[in-house]
Amino acid sequence: MQSLVSFVLAALFSSALASPTKTGTAKRATCTVDSVDSAADLSDCTDVEIIAWEVPAGEVIKIEAASGANRGAAKPHPFVKFEGYGSFTNFIIKDSPAQAISIGTTSTSTFTDILVDNLDGTTDGLGANTDGFDLSASDVTISGCTVYNQDDCLAINSGTNNVFENNYCSGGHGISIGSIASDKTVTDVTSLATLSSKASCRYGMRIKVDSDATDAIVSGITYSGNSISANEKYGLLITQSYSEDFGTPSTDSVIEDINFTGSTTIITTTGDYPVIGVDCGKCEGTWNWESLVASGGEAADIILAGGASILGGSY
Ligand SMILES: *[C@@H]1O[C@H](CO)[C@@H](O)[C@H](O)[C@H]1NC(C)=O
Repeated sequence: MQSLVSFVLAALFSSALASPTKTGTAKRATCTVDSVDSAADLSDCTDVEIIAWEVPAGEVIKIEAASGANRGAAKPHPFVKFEGYGSFTNFIIKDSPAQAISIGTTSTSTFTDILVDNLDGTTDGLGANTDGFDLSASDVTISGCTVYNQDDCLAINSGTNNVFENNYCSGGHGISIGSIASDKTVTDVTSLATLSSKASCRYGMRIKVDSDATDAIVSGITYSGNSISANEKYGLLITQSYSEDFGTPSTDSVIEDINFTGSTTIITTTGDYPVIGVDCGKCEGTWNWESLVASGGEAADIILAGGASILGGSY
């Protein structure tokens, strides 16, 4: 069992323009971080591998990596990737250059009390693709976490039996299942009591399947007690036309069993988009939306090709 306890990972990125150019210095291919000291100067590494080691209580790991500007240059990402399995708790990711935390665990794991603080990225639009959690794994519970970022707070790309519970998302693109590519399956996800500060996410909640995906399955997604608001686009968007919101949806993949049950989920949007958008090529089954209350924006735009039906819901 690995555990990361009480430390701060801080990636400090000066802008590409402001950073001194090292001439005549070839970049080292891969640098390994295995101590607080070895994290201190990674400015000439093209790849950084952080391996498992114990951080003494109270010490701060400050990772000084190369400058990067997505929009111009490649950024190292994800900032940390978790493999193996275990309980990962109580740490801070500050200013990740792109995606913050990638989860590729292989057995039951929990991620709790984690702060992804990419607030600095809101300045001059510096932050991009700063997903909080990217998940391709099963049996993972993420709870009590806070994400300030500029892209998805959570993006589940594959896996089964995952729970996202009592987290707080602000500034980014909300909670996403997807985007889902061909042959990927996401089943049995529960999203409970997720909060976003009012009018601060671009979208609220999304399920997005690639328009060219074949044999992708999204099934058994339950939302309970979430409260999220979008400040620009759909409060809730379920689409098989990704990367478009609405377009020509895939008919070779299926979305089924998308329920809002248990405690009421409240979704609002303040933008000029439909509060709910559903763009299906092949959606199936009965979707129970009895615990959904959605308001704001324009009238819902729901295309349920494939035979799905929605029960209940206020929108
Ligand atoms: C979703 O709701 C439908 C219709 O009520 C029900 O048949 C299905 O079992 C529910 N799925 C989950 C995962 O609760």
